[in-house]
Amino acid sequence: MSQDIRAFFNEKAPFWDAMQEVPEGKLRALLSELPIVRGGVILDVGSGTGVLIPFLRELFAPFLIVELDIAEAMLAEARKKFGDDGIRYVHGDAKEVVFAETFDAIICYSSFPHFEDKEGTLRHLLAFLKDGGVFAILHTASREYINALHAQNEVTRNHLLPEGDEVARMLAGLGLSVLIVRDTPEEYLVAGLKKGVQ
Ligand SMILES: C[S@@+](CC[C@H](N)C(=O)[O-])C[C@H]1O[C@@H](n2cnc3c(N)ncnc32)[C@H](O)[C@@H]1O
Repeated sequence: MSQDIRAFFNEKAPFWDAMQEVPEGKLRALLSELPIVRGGVILDVGSGTGVLIPFLRELFAPFLIVELDIAEAMLAEARKKFGDDGIRYVHGDAKEVVFAETFDAIICYSSFPHFEDKEGTLRHLLAFLKDGGVFAILHTASREYINALHAQNEVTRNHLLPEGDEVARMLAGLGLSVLIVRDTPEEYLVAGLKKGVQ
């Protein structure tokens, strides 16, 4: 487990929500594009303080949301706000955590740049996606903005978001059908569908 990033976000956890302005309209619009079944099980990777929870509930009425984060203090903030009803909190590193269930959707919102081994983490997570399930990486700002922001801090300096086409190639190489590749000055969304065994 990467201790630097864990410590970095644990330290920020009590202030995270006050530091963030959630672009609700944009986030709702991006999530709405994903063909996620209603009533399913959704994994929120790098879930932080649970910013996605209200949107996932509104749009997809999931039976269960699994909140995964490497920083336990971020999860504690989420639990304070949302409790345990329909939500499970998992403390772990996305590249190695093992789940008892498989997911209808796996979403990485504002977390993908922080994964040290991006392709290895994708491969690991995709093993827990159901056939026909949706995988998405999304950001409500541009890649350039995010990379410039991360460059300002010693811990996140090398935490870069790759070009959308590069991530799409990774997902295709791991067996997904790529549905959306958007890497624009406004937003970033790469999404795919896990193909069933023919
Ligand atoms: C920029 S924050 C975004 C949090 C939340 N998604 C939001 O938008 O408010 C990135 C989150 O990813 C988590 N994270 C970073 N690397 C991770 C990893 N390898 N496995 C699980 N979580 C990770 C961090 O602890 C942090 O909470």
